Amino acid sequence: MSENTFALDFRTRRRLGYELIDVINEYFESLPDRNVQFPVEKRAFEPLRDAMPETGVLDDASRLESRSSDRLTAWLRDTSEELIDKGFHLGSANYFGLMNPTPTYAGVLAETLVAALNPQLATTARSQLASKIEAETIRWIGERFGWQQPFDGSFTSGGNEANFSAIAFALSQHFPGVAENGVASIGAQPAVYASAEAHHSLDKSVGLLGLGRKALRRIPVDRNVQLDLSALEQAIADDRAAGKRPFCVVATAGTTNSGIIDDISGIAGLCRREGLWLHLDGAYGAAVTFSDTHRHLVNGIERCDSVTVDPHKWLAMPFAAGVVLTRHPDMMQAAFGVTTPYMPKPLAGIPLDNFKVSAQWTRRMNSLKLWLTLQMHGRKAYEGYIDSQMQLAREFAERAEHSGVFALAAPQVLPILNLRLKHSGSGDELEKAHVELVNRVTEDGRRWISETHVAGESVIRIMIVSYLTERSHLEDLQRALLEAAAIIERKATPVESTSILGEKVDLESQAKTATQTPETCTPAST
Ligand SMILES: Cc1ncc(COP(=O)(O)O)c(C=O)c1O
Repeated sequence: MSENTFALDFRTRRRLGYELIDVINEYFESLPDRNVQFPVEKRAFEPLRDAMPETGVLDDASRLESRSSDRLTAWLRDTSEELIDKGFHLGSANYFGLMNPTPTYAGVLAETLVAALNPQLATTARSQLASKIEAETIRWIGERFGWQQPFDGSFTSGGNEANFSAIAFALSQHFPGVAENGVASIGAQPAVYASAEAHHSLDKSVGLLGLGRKALRRIPVDRNVQLDLSALEQAIADDRAAGKRPFCVVATAGTTNSGIIDDISGIAGLCRREGLWLHLDGAYGAAVTFSDTHRHLVNGIERCDSVTVDPHKWLAMPFAAGVVLTRHPDMMQAAFGVTTPYMPKPLAGIPLDNFKVSAQWTRRMNSLKLWLTLQMHGRKAYEGYIDSQMQLAREFAERAEHSGVFALAAPQVLPILNLRLKHSGSGDELEKAHVELVNRVTEDGRRWISETHVAGESVIRIMIVSYLTERSHLEDLQRALLEAAAIIERKATPVESTSILGEKVDLESQAKTATQTPETCTPAST
C-alpha cells in the first residue's frame, strides 16, 4: 500500500469496494421494511465540532501493517453504517413524501461507474460514447412524447436547471439576440405565464434570466386545480394592452402539491393562436409517457415546444438527473452557445459540443443510470411500475373517501393524494388539525407524509413514490391516519365524536373497517 497518496493498490481497492457493495446490498434488502427516520425524540442536528483530519485512517492502518486491510474495511463499514443508522431514508417503502424515489440498483451501479470513469461531457470529442448514450437516451424520451425529428435536449442537474434552460430557449426564440444584448434590448417587459400551483423553480428562472420575478404571471387555478384557461387568455390580453411582451406559457404535468396535469392541449391551442412558446414542466408527470396505458394523461405533450422531465423523480433514478428537451434545437445554441480559445476545435462529423447547448460547462454523465436501467429492465418495467402505482393510488383514494373521516381535497390524477380532515373546519383551524395529524403519523419515524397548501387551503399530502411500496404499506399508513384522526376529533369533541352532518361517529371502529382491503379491488401488480 502506498503512503501519503491517493493511489491505492489492487488488493486494497478490491477489499474496500467489496465491503461497500455488501453494505449497499444489505441496505437495499432493508428498504421494504425500513423506518424513514428516528422517532421524534431521537432526532437531532448535531453541532459541528469535528476538526478536519490531518492524517487519515489509511496512515494509521499502514503503521499496523498486518491488520491494515481489516482496519480499513472496518472503518468503511462503520462510517457507512453510521450514515445509514442516522439517515433519513427517502428510499424506504414507507416514504410517502416528495418526489424522491427509491433508486434502481442499476442506477446505483451506474453512478459508481460514472464516478470511476468521470467522463467530461462538456465536449463531444472527449466523451464520445458518453455523449452518444446521452443523445440516445434523450431521443428515446422524446419519442415517448410522440415527437418527430428534429428535436434535441440535454441532461441537467434537475428540474430547476431544465426549466431555466427551457425559458432561456423561449426567450431566444422570441427575442433573437437577447443572449448577447440583454433583456434591456427588448425595450419592454417580457412576460411568462404559469398556474398558481406551478413550481417555484420558475420564479428563480425568470429572476436569473434577468426578467425579474414579477415577469412570471401566476394564473389562478380552476376547481380541478388546473391552470384556468380563460384567466390565462385574459392575463395575456391585459399584459399586451399594458405594453408587456408575453412570450411563454408553462403548463405543468404533475404539480408538486397535487400531481395535477394542466389541460395541455387547451393551452397548446391558445399558445398557437397567441404565438407563444409552450413549455411543459413535466419534471414528475411527463414520465407517465413510459406507460402505454397512461400516456393519454399528458395528451398534448407532442405539441409542446419544450419539456422538462426529471428521471430522478418518477423514473427512479438516484440524484441527479433532469432532462430538458425541445423541438427547436437551434434555440439551445442561441441560448447557451459560446466560444473559447482553449477548447479543442470541433471536428468534422462530430456533433456540436455539449457546452454550447447547456447552461453547464463541466458536466457529469447523468444519463448512464437511466440508459443502464432501461438496458437491464426495459421500458415495459416502467410501465408495470407506473400502472401499479396508479392502481394503488386509486384504491387509496377510494378507501380514504369511504372512511367518513377524510375527503379528497384535489382530484387524484397521478399517485399523489391530497386529503382533508372532514370534520375539522377550515382555514387556520383545519391547518392546525392537519399539522397535528401529520406530526402524529410521522412521530415514531416509521413513515413520512406532509402538510401543504393547495389553492390556499391546507391539505395532507401523500405520495406513492417508491417502487417498493405495496398495498400493505398503504394499509399501515391508513391505520395510522385514522388513529391520529380519532385522537384529534376526540380532543375537539371530548364526549363523543360528531361528524359535520351531526351523526355520531365511532372513529375507532371506522379505523378498523376502513383499513380492510375492499374485496372488490383488483390486486395491483407490485
Ligand atoms: C413540478 C416540478 N418542477 C420542477 C421541480 C424542480 O426539480 P429539481 O428539484 O429536480 O430541481 C420540481 C421539484 O420537485 C417539481 O415538483
